[in-house]
Order: sequence, then structure tokens, then C-alpha cells
Amino acid sequence: MSENVAIIGVGHSKFGTRKDVNIPELCWESMKPAFETANLEPKDIDFFVVGTAGMWSSEQAVPALIAEYADLAPKGSMRVEAACATGNAAIRVGYTAIKSGLADIVLVLGVEKMQESPNPTIIEMIGRFGSYFWEFENFGLTFPGYYALHGTAYMLRYGATEEDFARVAVKNHYYGAKNPYAQFQKEIDVETVLKSPYVAWPFKLFDCSPITDGSACVILASEEKVKEMGIEEKVWILAQGVGTGTANLSRREDFTSLASARFAAEQAYKIAKIEEPAKEIDGANVHDCFTAPEIIAYEDLRFCKRGEGVELIRNEQTYIGGKIPVNVDGGLKAKGHPIGATGVSQAVEAYKQLLRKADPGRQADVRNGRWLTHNVGGTGHYTYVTIYGLEKR
Ligand code: COA
Repeated sequence: MSENVAIIGVGHSKFGTRKDVNIPELCWESMKPAFETANLEPKDIDFFVVGTAGMWSSEQAVPALIAEYADLAPKGSMRVEAACATGNAAIRVGYTAIKSGLADIVLVLGVEKMQESPNPTIIEMIGRFGSYFWEFENFGLTFPGYYALHGTAYMLRYGATEEDFARVAVKNHYYGAKNPYAQFQKEIDVETVLKSPYVAWPFKLFDCSPITDGSACVILASEEKVKEMGIEEKVWILAQGVGTGTANLSRREDFTSLASARFAAEQAYKIAKIEEPAKEIDGANVHDCFTAPEIIAYEDLRFCKRGEGVELIRNEQTYIGGKIPVNVDGGLKAKGHPIGATGVSQAVEAYKQLLRKADPGRQADVRNGRWLTHNVGGTGHYTYVTIYGLEKR
């Protein structure tokens, strides 16, 4: 058993349209730097986990593919899927494997090569992450539509506007422009968002995360291994909360919040003994698959009271220097959202922020030494909230 588990190595591929590489090559792009930062070789890995939704890609046996490509066979492996929370679910498997004493060093990889299928096929497949029978098959809802229901409910109850949602995209593109791995590295203004074509009212093109190819990798180690290897640069997993929601949206009472996210957050805060998140955590990566869900996440994570999330973005309080910086790597909106890689990419960002290795112009003040990630699968069907820290619990 290992009481504490640390990230000791990280790697990140360029996100975007990656027709230049096949799946193993795309995986290796993040695995190689992860091995280098951890100062390890493939033979040192006890077990590896691959988070990939994968149904849009040619290759399905990704763990075996990378075992062959990166010389990881015959070590044990597992493929994990939890819709858009796949990446953090994969971290959960690695984390619990080490905590339970089954492994000392686990490689966790998130990967997606979505653009191997045409967009309408991809959008239909993502749509199945909701309730297929009740929503997709009979009503034709796809993800922009699902989240638009949440966005409009939030507008109606709290008076948020399309301009407010656009401000989230402007912030995330601002930081995406400073992240060399981001899909979109261009700043935009509110007008750019408002003038872009509607996808599902109130969301326009620039309110949406894109369809992305990419991979991200972390190497996790037990406390004993960290000591034995004398590793100085590491980030501890302080707590992880996991919540599950209903499949069918009509079974939910409130569209201005995600119950699974509130549950996961409170579970994580209890374990990490955090009472006032915005004061005790230095920054966060939240699941901005569309702009409105970022604002809803501020509230589900208790960065502010219910209904006040819109004020945080209006007053630029989630920029660096504000109350709590959020998605200062560009978020899903500008960095991109390769479904299975997103949760792992968030962990890479937590590691970089806490060790002050973020790119110029997007390093937050990390005086508390704590960073939070919030990764949502479906429309709150699954939520993982993970708190990372420089000091172990
Ligand atoms: N933001 C900004 N620009 C975007 C974009 C986005 N999210 N998505 C695509 N673009 C740009 C492309 O770069 C391209 O620009 P170009 O013509 O200058 O090269 C142009 O828009 C058309 O791109 P394309 O991929 O053909 O767009 P599309 O209309 O087929 O798809 C969406 C756009 C928004 C419908 C699609 O990306 C989508 O469904 N996103 C949501 C994905 C999702 O649901 N993920 C899971 C969430 S939990």
C-alpha cells in the first residue's frame, strides 16, 4: 500500500489536426517526454493505463499497439473509457493501483485521433455519450444541444447573456495563444464569438470546444519509489472525488448545476481538508467543453456562490491575478479537446503550474501549492475532481 501517489513525469503532444502521425506515433509524442522528465525507461513501468474513447479511430487495441511501439510488453495494461472524463478516469485507475499496492510505477496515457472520421460521424458518436434512447435516437440531440439546455437555463435564472459566455472563449483563447501545444493559438475578442455561426443557440462556433487529435501522458509513482529514486520534482495527488449523474437529462432537477460535479468536488475537498476553495487553491482546469459549462463549474466547485459565476468572468476574476485563475492553458476551448487525452492534459498542466514550469505569460501565482482539475464526461454523467499539491497530505 502507498498512502501517497505522485506525478513524477509528464508529456504532451501538440493538439490539433494530426494527419502527420499515426496513433502509436501520436502516443509516443507525449510518452517520450514523460519518460525523460521521470528519468525512467519503459522497462521500469509496472502497469499502464490508456484512456481513449476511440470509436472514431481505425485502431482500437491501443494499449497493445503502444506496448509494441514503446517496448512495454509484457507488462499489464488496461483501456479505460468514461466519455469526456476518460483521461481522469484513467488517472483514477493508475492512482488506485498504486494506492492499493498492486503497482509502484504506472504510466497513464490519454489519446484520441478523432479526425480519422468525418465531423458528422464524430458528432453523432459523441451524442451517444448522453442517453441514446431518450435523447439522441428520438430527439436528435447532440452535445452542443445538450449543453445549450444548461446554458439557456443559466441565462434564464441568473441573467447571463451571450456576451458573458463569449468572455469565457476570449479568456481561453488569450491563454491558448500562449500555449505552444494548443490547437488554436490566436487571440479573439467578444465580437469574434458573437459573429460566428450558431451551432445550438445560445452557442456559436466560438462557444464550442473543437474536434481534436492529441495525446498526454503522466507517470505516477508510490511514495516509496519517490524516496528510493530521490525525485525532487514531483506533484502529489492530494485527493480525488468521483461522481455519477443520471443518464437521462429529464431525470435532473436543475440544469444550472451538475450534481455529479458538486458531489465529486465535496468528496475531494473533504479528503484534502479544503474549506474555502478559491482561497486555498491557486488555480484550476475546468471542463469548458462549451463556454457556459465553465461558468457553471465555478459554482459547482464553490469558487463563488450559485448565480455569481457570471460575475467572476465579467470581472475577469478567472484570469491570472484574479480571484482564481481558470484554464490558463487555453482550456478545452482553445487548447482542444481530444476526448481521452483531456483529463491527462489537465494533470500535465497541474504539474507544470505547481512546479512553475508554465509558458511565459500563463504562469499563475502558486503560493498555496495546490491546483484543481475538473473533468466531466457526458453532460455530468461522470465527474472527476482531482486536487494536486506540492506537499503531500
Ligand atoms: N472554435 C473555433 N473555431 C473552430 C472550432 C471551434 N470550436 N471548430 C472548428 N473551428 C474552425 C476550424 O478551424 C475551421 O476553420 P478554417 O475554415 O479557417 O480552417 C472551421 O471552423 C470549420 O471547421 P470544421 O471542423 O469543419 O467545423 P464544423 O462546423 O464541422 O464543427 C463544431 C464545428 C463546433 C460543430 C464541432 O467542432 C463540435 O461539434 N464541437 C463540439 C465537440 C464536442 O461536443 N465535444 C464533446 C463535448 S463534452
